[in-house]
Amino acid sequence: MKAAERCFGGMKGREPGTKIGKPSKEDTVAQLPDGMKITWLGHATFIVQGPDGKRYLIDPFVDSNPACPGDLKDVGKLDAILVTHGHADHIADLVPIAKKTGAPVLCIVEIGAWLAGQGVDNVIAMNKGGSAQIAGITVHMTQAIHSGGINLGDEIIYGGEPSGLVLEFSNGFKLYHAGDTAVFGDMALIAKLLAPDWAMLPIGDFYTMGPRSAAEAIRLLGVKTVIPMHYGTFPVLSGTPEQLADEAADVSGLEIVAIGPGDSIG
Ligand code: NI
Ligand code: MN
Repeated sequence: MKAAERCFGGMKGREPGTKIGKPSKEDTVAQLPDGMKITWLGHATFIVQGPDGKRYLIDPFVDSNPACPGDLKDVGKLDAILVTHGHADHIADLVPIAKKTGAPVLCIVEIGAWLAGQGVDNVIAMNKGGSAQIAGITVHMTQAIHSGGINLGDEIIYGGEPSGLVLEFSNGFKLYHAGDTAVFGDMALIAKLLAPDWAMLPIGDFYTMGPRSAAEAIRLLGVKTVIPMHYGTFPVLSGTPEQLADEAADVSGLEIVAIGPGDSIG
């Protein structure tokens, strides 16, 4: 099987013979547990539905997200909002969505302090290495190698360090959202301590790892199912799922689930 044949769905310029379509029971082994669903709003923004139907929004970049389809700009009812770091392309809509939905927000302590000043009080403000319960899941906050300011017009204020998040559901399924990050050797510790089942990894390059580094992240994490993110939103984010498939061609059993913005799995 050629590397590109491990990519599914939503990809432009796919090679002849590439498997097309969203993962289903017929065409792939990559299956979410019953009742779960992942919808990509483009960039690093996802709505994840747990096995009990609860809905979790990760990194609310919606209204001004050029990749987010119009019919998903109203995110609907939410049970929690999870934030990796304070850059505008991850929290641009955090305050209005938190106020509109009333959903609790999980984030690092400095963003939590800033949110209190914005009138958002339903916040779990934690730090890396810790775990917290929110809306029926356990969230583990992990390392990420990146920066973490909050953009306020022309000003940038300190927003704490960037993080990654491992969502642990009641059925035992664990989903790693790496946030914005370079590859780092301690991804092996995330594998050892948390053993995520699936990973959402940035591949766009420039602000985060590109495909070559993301392939090394896959090896360190030991994951076999990967959803690429943080690519294609802007021209500078040039990494592609096809490049990731080529770079990770040595990883046996790997499935790169390259859905398009607005698409869902599960
Ligand atoms: Ni960032
Ligand atoms: Mn970003």
